[in-house]
Amino acid sequence: MLSKKIYDLAVIGSGGGTYLPDKAIETGHQVALIEGSDWGGTCLNHGCIPTKIMVHVADVIKMTRQGQDLALKGNPMEVDWPKLEERVFSKLQEGEGMVDYYAPYPNIDLYKAFASFAGREEIEGETIFVLNLSKGGQKQGQIKARQVVIANGARTNIPMGLGLEEVKPLTSETLFKRETWPKTLPKTMLILGGGDIGTEFAYVFQSFGVKVSLIQRSGRLVPKQDPEVSDRLKNVLVDYGVNVLTNKTTIEASLADGQKYLRLKDRESGEEETLTADEIFVCTGVRSNVDTLALENIGLETVRGYIPTNAYLETAVPGIYAMGDVNGMYQLRHVSNYEGQILAHNLMDPSVKRPEDRRKVDYSAIPRATFTVLQIGQVGLTEPECLAQNLDYKVGYLRFSDTAQGYARGFLPEHEKIDGFCKVLVEKDTHRILGVHIMADEASSLITPFTYLLAMDPEKHAPNRYENVTEAMTVHPSLSELSAWAFENWRE
Ligand SMILES: Cc1cc2nc3c(=O)[nH]c(=O)nc-3n(C[C@H](O)[C@H](O)[C@H](O)COP(=O)(O)OP(=O)(O)OC[C@H]3O[C@@H](n4cnc5c(N)ncnc54)[C@H](O)[C@@H]3O)c2cc1C
Ligand SMILES: NC(=O)c1ccc[n+]([C@@H]2O[C@H](COP(=O)([O-])OP(=O)(O)OC[C@H]3O[C@@H](n4cnc5c(N)ncnc54)[C@H](OP(=O)(O)O)[C@@H]3O)[C@@H](O)[C@H]2O)c1
Repeated sequence: MLSKKIYDLAVIGSGGGTYLPDKAIETGHQVALIEGSDWGGTCLNHGCIPTKIMVHVADVIKMTRQGQDLALKGNPMEVDWPKLEERVFSKLQEGEGMVDYYAPYPNIDLYKAFASFAGREEIEGETIFVLNLSKGGQKQGQIKARQVVIANGARTNIPMGLGLEEVKPLTSETLFKRETWPKTLPKTMLILGGGDIGTEFAYVFQSFGVKVSLIQRSGRLVPKQDPEVSDRLKNVLVDYGVNVLTNKTTIEASLADGQKYLRLKDRESGEEETLTADEIFVCTGVRSNVDTLALENIGLETVRGYIPTNAYLETAVPGIYAMGDVNGMYQLRHVSNYEGQILAHNLMDPSVKRPEDRRKVDYSAIPRATFTVLQIGQVGLTEPECLAQNLDYKVGYLRFSDTAQGYARGFLPEHEKIDGFCKVLVEKDTHRILGVHIMADEASSLITPFTYLLAMDPEKHAPNRYENVTEAMTVHPSLSELSAWAFENWRE
């Protein structure tokens, strides 16, 4: 696996980082793509995509359960767990297709190995980075590159010292691995962490007939969202049958007689309780994979485990860039895609002749969605953020049940606590849209037009130019990608 080539660019990680070899197909740059695990990164192999395959099944089950409200009769549906396993894993195999996809391009080499920095060399007055490649702990060789894009993602951060590792809990990594995918559905499950992953899986497993308890450390679920969204989500999950516990510290995890236990302490009252279940699922956030890179060999420092970057995604070491989860900005796949596109443009596009031709990252219109019992779509500021910035704003609010589609889908004004809604925050003087928060079916797509509005820069592109779509972010994986990505797939 030793290459004598000096690559123009080495990319570590095959998630959003693949935008760079994709660009090299057009430009002919010499690119090395290095992946230590499965081709395709987190989103495909144990993140967004397999999760949403499961969420869609939950959506169908939810619809049939609520069928009576919609004037339907008949037995509710159940999940066919072995069949779902096949559906999930047949999708995951698609990552291997990357090898065939890049094979016709002699300027793009793929390395299935873990990369770490060996150091740098001066060759004919140029600084060249040297990367060690290893597999299963065995050194495989080295490659050299003029520039390196670090896009090597993050992994579940299992809280240490609580005995959690010892009880072998599920994580998104173990769930979506053949060897550790549960062969039968547990009857009961404790989900630790009430962020995006926790609230999506609480919905999924509760729909599949598992009795779920969702345990959150903060006082509210999905704390990155507007508090009104967090409150409503708690109501809807409880109404759906999930036992939601907030404000809980985990003291200890243990295993006895095939059952798993969690000892919890209430953060307000100090009261302790012990919960038990067949399975524990840990969704307590992520930590970056920078610790695999030996960054000390190139003198690149991290801050709280992440690599700081500037508006051009440059790190403190010239020639080294960091994008996606590893720069700790916004840990979402569409953000990683967006950053990959920006780096592909800045480092390879022939139109970039001067520094001012480069694109800067703009994080002012990042959409996010949570695919849970009632989808959440968000872009812009939350109310506490508006208050913190002393903005003089007004709030527009409409219940989902007040729309014809809301009623058609079974939402009723008398069920206010579990109704969907849209809440818009607008600056009083300027009429500027500050934030939009939606809880409703397909909220992940309903948020899209507002994302494009907020991202639009009339000095850059006229309002009817398609670049207003392609240079903005579209929630992944949402129905809106159907229209957004059509602008990136031109017929010959
Ligand atoms: C269960 C789950 C559900 C999610 N759902 C969503 C969602 O619905 N929407 C959304 O936007 N985001 C979602 N996310 C987050 C999203 O998956 C990540 O933000 C995104 O995948 C990060 O992309 P990335 O390009 O930074 O890195 P990744 O896609 O993580 O790619 C990094 C790659 O680098 C490899 N690697 C690591 N170290 C090395 C090394 N030293 N050498 C070589 N290779 C290395 C890894 O194996 C990995 O394949 C979800 C995450 C999880 C876990
Ligand atoms: N739909 C999507 O876009 C989507 C879906 C899945 C994942 N993701 C992304 O993937 C990343 C990981 O997701 P995540 O849900 O694991 O992380 P997250 O969004 O950071 O949420 C983790 C939650 O777990 C809580 N927590 C931490 N330790 C705990 C403990 N010991 N006991 C109980 N609760 C604990 C945290 O509480 P505190 O608030 O007190 O810290 C936090 O709210 C995130 O960046 C997320 O955005 C996105």
